[in-house]
Amino acid sequence: MEPVKIGLLGLGTVGGGTYNVLQRNAEEIARRAGRDIIVSHASVRNPARVEALGLRDVRLSEDPAAVVDDPEIEVVVELLGGTEPALSLILRALENGKHVVTANKALIAMHGNEIFAAAHRRGVMVAFEAAVAGGIPIIKSVREGLAGNEIRWVAGIINGTGNFILSEMRDHGRDFADVLAEAQRLGYAEADPTFDVEGVDAAHKLTILAAIAFGMPLHFEDVYTEGISGVTREDVGYAEQLGYRIKHLAIARRAEGRVELRVHPTLVPEKRLIAHVDGVMNAVQIQADALGPTLYYGPGAGAEPTASAVVADLVDVVRTLTSDPDNRVPHLAFKPDQVVDLPIQPMEEIETAYYLRLQAVDRPGVMAQVSAIMGDLDISMEAILQKEPAAGETTVPLIMLTRRVREQRINEAIRRFGELDAIVGEIQRIRVETLG
Ligand code: HSE
Repeated sequence: MEPVKIGLLGLGTVGGGTYNVLQRNAEEIARRAGRDIIVSHASVRNPARVEALGLRDVRLSEDPAAVVDDPEIEVVVELLGGTEPALSLILRALENGKHVVTANKALIAMHGNEIFAAAHRRGVMVAFEAAVAGGIPIIKSVREGLAGNEIRWVAGIINGTGNFILSEMRDHGRDFADVLAEAQRLGYAEADPTFDVEGVDAAHKLTILAAIAFGMPLHFEDVYTEGISGVTREDVGYAEQLGYRIKHLAIARRAEGRVELRVHPTLVPEKRLIAHVDGVMNAVQIQADALGPTLYYGPGAGAEPTASAVVADLVDVVRTLTSDPDNRVPHLAFKPDQVVDLPIQPMEEIETAYYLRLQAVDRPGVMAQVSAIMGDLDISMEAILQKEPAAGETTVPLIMLTRRVREQRINEAIRRFGELDAIVGEIQRIRVETLG
C-alpha cells in the first residue's frame, strides 16, 4: 500500500521527538498501522533544527499554511502550541479534509467544542492523546479501556513542573524559585511558567479529562484554579508530620448530577500510591464503578515521551482512514449527540476536609476562641498541632485538620479567625482529599 504522508507543524522539542521516533521505529510502526507513515512536509521557523535533526526527503516551508494546504498530506500534526495560529491552521486543515493530531492542550481545552464540531462535519478525526499527561495513554484508557464503567472521579498530578517543585521542596528544603528555574532549564515548564505553578496547564488537561470521563462538553472557564506559589516549606513539613504529602491535584468528580472541576494544592494521605509520585512524573487516579480504583503513571512531558503519544495517535488515525466516520471512537468518548452538559458545582458547595495554619499570639485562651468558632460552625477537628514559638517570636503556628465540611463554612471560619486580635498574618487553607 502507498505510504501515508503526514505534515508536521513545528519542529521544536515535540516535533523533533516525533520525527525521531517515526524514523527509528518506522518498521514496527508500519507493522502496526498497516502502512508506512512518512513525514513529507514540515514547517520550521528555525533552520538550524533541520540540520540538528538530520531531516531527509522532507519538503520544508516557513509558512505552516503551506503544509495545511499541501494536497499530498493526509494527516496534519500540529505541534506549535498556543492558540493562534494553531487554531486557524487546524480549522483550515479540517476544512481541507485532513485528519489532525495535536498535543495542544490549551487549544483543545478552550476551543475543542468548535474543533470537534468542524471535524465531525467533515468526517475527519482530531486525535489529542499527547495533550494530557504527555506520554501516558490516559485518553485511550478512559475513552476505550473504561468504556464499560460509570466514572465517579478523576484525580491527577498532571503538571510535571509543579510536582517537581513540591517534591524538591519536601526532599531537599529548596526554595520555590530555584526549583522553578531548574525545571525551565530542563525544558518541562511552559513558555509562561505561571501556567505551571498557578495551575492553568493542569486546568487545561483536567477540562479534557472531565469531558471524556463524563461525556460533557469542554468547560475550561469553569475550572476552579489555585496554584502552588502560596505553599510554604513549613506547610510541606507540617503535612508530613500529620501523615500527608502536599500534591497539586486536578480533580473532577461527578455527584448528584453536578460536576466538580478543581485544581489546587491538596494534602493526600501518605499511604496512597499517588502521594509517592515525585519529580516531573505524572499520575492519574480514576475511580470507576465496575473496575474500582486504577492509577496511571509515567512521564508527562519531554520530547520522546510526548512523541510516543503523538505517534500512537498517528497509528490510530492511519488504521481508521478507510473506516466509516460514524464507526470511529468518538472524540469525546460518547457519541456526539450523547454529549450532555452538566452543571458545575460552585466551590462554596464542595465538601472536603481542610488543613488550616494560623499564626496565633502565644497566650492562654486563644485556643478556646478558635475552638469556639469551630464549634459554632459545626466543624469537627481531626487533629491539632501547636508548634514552639521561633526564637524571639511571641506568636506560634497553630495547625488544624478538619473532618469533611462544606467549603462555605470553612470560608466563614477563616473570616472569623481573621477578626480575632490573637490571630496575626495570613491564614493558610489547603484542601485534604483521602482518595479512598
Ligand atoms: N509544562 C507541562 C508540565 C508540560 O510541566 O507538565 C507538559 O504538558
